[in-house]
Amino acid sequence: MRILGLSGSLRAGSYNTALLRACADHVPEGVTLTLAPSLDLPIYSAEREGAPAAPVIALREAVAGADALVISTPEYNYSIPGGLKNALDWLSRPEKSKPTSGKPVAVIGASTSLTGTARAQMHLRQVVYYHAMHLFSAAELLVPRAQERFDGEGRLTDADTQGRVADFMQKFVAFAGRFSG
Ligand SMILES: Cc1cc2nc3c(=O)[nH]c(=O)nc-3n(C[C@H](O)[C@H](O)[C@H](O)COP(=O)(O)O)c2cc1C
Repeated sequence: MRILGLSGSLRAGSYNTALLRACADHVPEGVTLTLAPSLDLPIYSAEREGAPAAPVIALREAVAGADALVISTPEYNYSIPGGLKNALDWLSRPEKSKPTSGKPVAVIGASTSLTGTARAQMHLRQVVYYHAMHLFSAAELLVPRAQERFDGEGRLTDADTQGRVADFMQKFVAFAGRFSG
């Protein structure tokens, strides 16, 4: 099983990208989790659909080639960052052949506040609903106070969070396996 990880943050020191790396360290044998190409895309416009920029094509192809997705979102102003929403807007077209359609997807997130992306995750779940993906909902992975759980190199050092990541990935892979070959 090939899982693609989409980070909603472009930041070099992103906790959400670091969280996806931690997820990659905790997948069962025979499963890989790789990071998606950059979500630094032009703003979606219907007029651009006919000739999408190279990064849009690269993202679409990466999503099309994956068996399952994990999206890790920061929380910006109680919601998901605009860049992530824009990427999902691009991925929702062409409407009849969305590369996301039918893929199992998990929503996770890390933030520096005590609420750990609870509000952003609910918004993200609403957005992916349109993509006709299989949304994993049997477990949640929220990482509050991320600055206390990752070291300066982006390594997840908090044992409790490591355990939660491992448990979450095990459950998500079992769920995703029901939909892939
Ligand atoms: C514009 C902006 C808005 C933010 N709003 C929230 C918020 O509503 N809730 C929250 O928990 N954190 C908020 N934060 C803090 C982010 O959780 C924090 O910057 C986090 O590290 C971003 O994720 P990243 O490390 O993956 O880039 C905000 C940060 C920025 C820059």
